[in-house]
Amino acid sequence: MDEMEADKAGKPGNGSNAGESAKRPVKPEALRAVRGMNDILPEEGETWLALEAIVRDWLARYGYRHMRTPLLEHTSLFRRSIGEVTDIVEKEMYSFVDALNDEHLTLRPEATASTVRASIEHNLLYNGAQRVWYCGPMFRHEKPQRGRYRQFYQIGAEALGHPGPDVDAELLLMCARLWSELGLQGMSLHLNSLGNSAERAAHRHALVEFLRGHASALDTDSQRRLQTNPLRVLDSKNPAMQGLIEAAPRLLDYLGNESLAHFNAVRRVLDDAGIAYQINPRLVRGLDYYNLTVFEWVTDQLGAQGTVCGGGRYDGLFEQMGGKPTPAAGFAMGVERLLDLMRGASRLPAVRVADGYLVHMGERADRFAVRAGEQLRDAGLAIISHAGSGRFRDQMKKADASGARLAVIIGDDEADAGNVTVKDLRAERPQQTVPLTQAAALIEAWRMQPAQP
Ligand code: HAM
Repeated sequence: MDEMEADKAGKPGNGSNAGESAKRPVKPEALRAVRGMNDILPEEGETWLALEAIVRDWLARYGYRHMRTPLLEHTSLFRRSIGEVTDIVEKEMYSFVDALNDEHLTLRPEATASTVRASIEHNLLYNGAQRVWYCGPMFRHEKPQRGRYRQFYQIGAEALGHPGPDVDAELLLMCARLWSELGLQGMSLHLNSLGNSAERAAHRHALVEFLRGHASALDTDSQRRLQTNPLRVLDSKNPAMQGLIEAAPRLLDYLGNESLAHFNAVRRVLDDAGIAYQINPRLVRGLDYYNLTVFEWVTDQLGAQGTVCGGGRYDGLFEQMGGKPTPAAGFAMGVERLLDLMRGASRLPAVRVADGYLVHMGERADRFAVRAGEQLRDAGLAIISHAGSGRFRDQMKKADASGARLAVIIGDDEADAGNVTVKDLRAERPQQTVPLTQAAALIEAWRMQPAQP
């Protein structure tokens, strides 16, 4: 028996203080959520659903189809795709050994690797290229602060099997459309190209030379990365390193004709579409799987965590994961950051409120109210039925507090006559008593012609 059950049963939780706890039950300590992991309570939950509905429609208009992958994957998946020498793999993964079968598992820190794994496993591209999207929680053991959580949500889109710059540009057009439809301004697009592996090797050579020449200025992390993955030195967040990073050789200067042509083709579509961007040669992204186009959408409205969306092309990842060579590109955006931005701009989406709150008093009224509620819901209306008993005044107070637009009132008199009384809770107009069969039409008519508040 645990402590709580013991309390309920009036029995002591353990033998040592039996006499005392029988007199004075110990209040169990309230449990809290894990640090950096947030509860999304109903008021916010409704906003999340409203945003997700907008997002679903937006993605469907570009032909993206929904998929879901498990939250847990084999640790090796992320080590191989994101890269051993990245912040995510080195410091931020929730990894553990499943004691039941000795498997090394990790809570996904992102979903591109899982999408590629699932595509290979199920031969998803058998009939050609696919555009897919996902939405769900990701886990990174970062230091929690505004916009940075240990469990956070991403909405991501991946275009699998398309080699051309047209798809990279389309991904960016999609984002620009979403910002505009959400009414968000001031989102700036940072763009770079990471070229191909030969170009990265040539740049790496020059970068290593440069960094070795400034070895004393490197922090400990960067000294280590210089040996293992020098490009990651450019990813350092240490302010003391920024001057050096600025002066380091730029990958853009090592691009050959093909990579440049790809980059320019992406830029041309953006120019044609009137989407502003800035080329940021220092943009390397925090994951190793990228090549050619990489990008981030950044805002100055969110303090330190200003990157709302990031992505790029990852043509080598399928092969690296044991699949056939398959070009691919995509992005993911942080839902908490997006909502924070929308809140700041007073652009949170409207949430659905209940159409009516069913107030009922009396034995016959209670029974009729069940029928009335179901019938109104048959007509597509959202109806909250008062639960339990309560005086009329109290029920009306609850109706008001519920946010519902109307009260649908039923007393025994109404029940006997098969009527309901409909009262507008948000505007001045006379209440009306109508047969239940006409109630849905009346409520609908009032919805279409709102009275003055
Ligand atoms: P990422 O840049 O690591 O890329 O994450 C994408 C977005 O997730 C970030 O821009 C940010 O908005 C949000 N985010 C990341 N970490 C946190 C956190 N700790 N708390 C809150 N929000 C966070 C990826 O994950 C790639 N898989 C994107 C991609 C898709 N590339 C190609 N396809």
